[in-house]
Amino acid sequence: MARKYVCPGKIDTFGQIGIDLVIGKREGPYIFDADGKKLIDLHINGGVFNLGHRHPELIAILVSALGKTDIGNHHFASEARVLLARKLAEKTPGDLHYTVFAASGSEAVDIAVKTARWATKRRQIVSLDKGYHGSTGISGNVGDYKNIDYFLSRGTKEEYAHVPFNDLPAMENILSREEAAAVIMETIPATYGFPLPEDGYLKGVKELCHKYRSLYIADEVQTGLGRTGNLWGVTTFGVIPDILITGKGLSGGVYPISATVISEKYGGWLTENGFGHVSTFGGAEPGCQVASRVLDICSDSALLASVRRHAAILGEGFADLKGRYPFLKEIRQCGLVIGLKYDDPLGAVSMCKALYENGIWAMIAGFDYSVMQCKPWIFLDRPLIDDILARFEEALKACTP
Ligand SMILES: Cc1ncc(COP(=O)(O)O)c(C=O)c1O
Repeated sequence: MARKYVCPGKIDTFGQIGIDLVIGKREGPYIFDADGKKLIDLHINGGVFNLGHRHPELIAILVSALGKTDIGNHHFASEARVLLARKLAEKTPGDLHYTVFAASGSEAVDIAVKTARWATKRRQIVSLDKGYHGSTGISGNVGDYKNIDYFLSRGTKEEYAHVPFNDLPAMENILSREEAAAVIMETIPATYGFPLPEDGYLKGVKELCHKYRSLYIADEVQTGLGRTGNLWGVTTFGVIPDILITGKGLSGGVYPISATVISEKYGGWLTENGFGHVSTFGGAEPGCQVASRVLDICSDSALLASVRRHAAILGEGFADLKGRYPFLKEIRQCGLVIGLKYDDPLGAVSMCKALYENGIWAMIAGFDYSVMQCKPWIFLDRPLIDDILARFEEALKACTP
């Protein structure tokens, strides 16, 4: 039926590598297929299930909210929205202050780009060759062009410029023309396979933005909410952005919501033109109540310390496997943001299948099939780490030529 009515191409692609998952029950770090087979979820939809599947407290908040409210009317002030916006202002770095709510990461990216264009009166947006920021017209243009070209939606060179990752001279070359409204970057590019920023790279980009009067937009959709061991990935690298985007995990996995948090200095359009961006479902009230608790949980210092501790243990385990199975060629890790590169251009595809057969669901990096994204939930503990590593070892044995 899904093949007939929803997405034949996706079903066929996964089918070709032997994955026919239909998710049934789901709980904490686990998903179960329709026959009840248990899988550790290391994909977590890019961070949506950061706090696991069906977090009981978040479900209780959602149910209670639905007992009293509904989506609300996005034009009017609402207690749930304002409390969440205030919390975002308090918990984001620097003078990030105003929040514009949306329902998806892509829309939040569009809002960030529009804000930067309005604030600077420039049109060009600089992004990374292999970035991924979403699939709308604007968000799709600030990353790899494959799908934007497929839908004949590419903007002009004057509007969008792409540079390679970790290349400060290329960044300076484009920013020095003083035509860019902003640079938008994932703190660690997810779809590219989580290559880590070199020492000083992100700070260098921020300095260049400052020098040439462009804004720095941090896309924290995948790296935010505690995953790096700090609430925001970008602060892990010592950068205070002008605009910060969060989504996915902000939903607690139970109610779609995303947010663009804008520095007070650049959010003037919100005063000048209150209807400049309108989003019917942006900041829906039940979602705001869930997201508010998500922020509290993810900023808890004991949890963040646990993320750092367990990330180190998991990293040591992968390093041990790498020593014994050279098919695991490279470990890219910042906290629980982990990219595993295999010694074959399609290595992540074989490992994805082998892991699936061994009780793990982990996703291939869309722009590099040699790399697998490995993102456990953030309540990781020792027994789960041991379980993950044992299953990886079996999969590595199966994939080692
Ligand atoms: C870094 C990043 N930004 C933005 C998006 C777009 O989010 P959404 O799919 O909610 O529109 C994604 C989605 O995968 C993402 O990984």
